[in-house]
Amino acid sequence: MSSLQLLTLVLLVSTVAIPVVTCRQWCMAMPGTSDEQLQANIDFGCSNGVDCTPIQPGGTCYHPNTLFDHASYVMNAYYQSHGRIEDACRFGRTGCFTFADPSNGSCIYYT
Ligand SMILES: *[C@@H]1O[C@H](CO)[C@@H](O)[C@H](O)[C@H]1NC(C)=O
Repeated sequence: MSSLQLLTLVLLVSTVAIPVVTCRQWCMAMPGTSDEQLQANIDFGCSNGVDCTPIQPGGTCYHPNTLFDHASYVMNAYYQSHGRIEDACRFGRTGCFTFADPSNGSCIYYT
């Protein structure tokens, strides 16, 4: 076997053997954020391109009906649709990242 063939084999095997690591991350509200700030984050996202129908009554993310959950939904949607850059999850230092999918039932936090 030539060294080129060997290299090809090694590359092929490593491609198959190494599991694909998915580094999906979601933006959410920082625990402890004041209600005023959570509401401000919701207002900001909803007036800057986020589809906020899911957090309205009857929407898929209306329950749990808390400012924290609603703000997290909006903040993540904003982050995902604004280049997934750290700045898009800052919200005056009230945004943070999670690597656990916050989706719950029919409420999907997309990536
Ligand atoms: C998921 O949704 C249900 C129904 O609204 C709620 O009772 C529960 O607390 C939610 N779970 C989390 C982890 O938010």
